[in-house]
Amino acid sequence: MTIIINAITPNFVAEIYDVDLAQPCAEDLHAIKQAFWKYAVLIFGDQKLTPEQHLRFSEQFGTVEMDRVLAAEHADPRLGHAFADISNLNREGKIWDKASRQRLYKEGNKLWHTDSSFKYKPGLCSLLYSTSIVPIGGHTEFADQRTAYDALSPEMKARLQGLIAMHGIEYSRKRTGFMEFEQSEANRLPPVPQLLVRTIPESGRQSLYIASHIGAIQGMGAAEAEALFQQLLAHVIQRQFVYTHRWRVNDLVMWDNRCTLHRGTDFDDMRFVRDMRRATVSDVANTCEQAGVAVPA
Ligand code: OGA
Ligand code: MN
Repeated sequence: MTIIINAITPNFVAEIYDVDLAQPCAEDLHAIKQAFWKYAVLIFGDQKLTPEQHLRFSEQFGTVEMDRVLAAEHADPRLGHAFADISNLNREGKIWDKASRQRLYKEGNKLWHTDSSFKYKPGLCSLLYSTSIVPIGGHTEFADQRTAYDALSPEMKARLQGLIAMHGIEYSRKRTGFMEFEQSEANRLPPVPQLLVRTIPESGRQSLYIASHIGAIQGMGAAEAEALFQQLLAHVIQRQFVYTHRWRVNDLVMWDNRCTLHRGTDFDDMRFVRDMRRATVSDVANTCEQAGVAVPA
């Protein structure tokens, strides 16, 4: 079979038709990968995927993360370790409590971020599959950090050259008011260095690499670093760089975490059930290592 690629924007988002991700042939997989490196966000509608099939397709892109941020006793056992639970359900499958730890923690998904930049070996791509959607809100927005980089002034590009930011899950959670990491969770995920500008190997394109996980930039005071982050974020999320995905049931959306930002939009989570599961594929190495830049101590 040959897939059909329908560009939704010229170089950022495409919808792929005529493929069953439960059993893609080698030719389809090759074409999907080529499209993915070109666009960075791919949408596959009307997919019927078991968790195993979802996982098997994800593994075509690399190693799937098995470590979750919250300690096991707080993690949701509905899905096992291979998936992030992107739902508003508790472990009994009921809508969560308003004051629950999961709910506070997942407020962070409403900030512009890229998955797992707070891990030394960050996220390469994420594959999010919807099984239940809500009638109002609950969209996912994506921003293209490559085209946003291209549009920066030469002065800003020169200023960013070689800068290293510190990314930490504690930083993004502080921005939402979630302060209660347990010691074991905090110890597992200390802040890590990542380049602020990176090159994507498959396309050769340069990209900004910012996220709400950023808490410091090397060689800068805290106020200057935060001001630079906010300035860059405001630039990246201008409407010409942003696509809003309005979910349908059984959509699988995959995005390149190396060169995009995303966030979930608000919905009435105490009333409607939104249920999705996400597999996250790890990048091959830390961004500094990939660029041959000395990793700061
Ligand atoms: C994610 C995420 C946002 C949303 O799955 O990584 O940030 O819309 N999701 O649920
Ligand atoms: Mn995310």
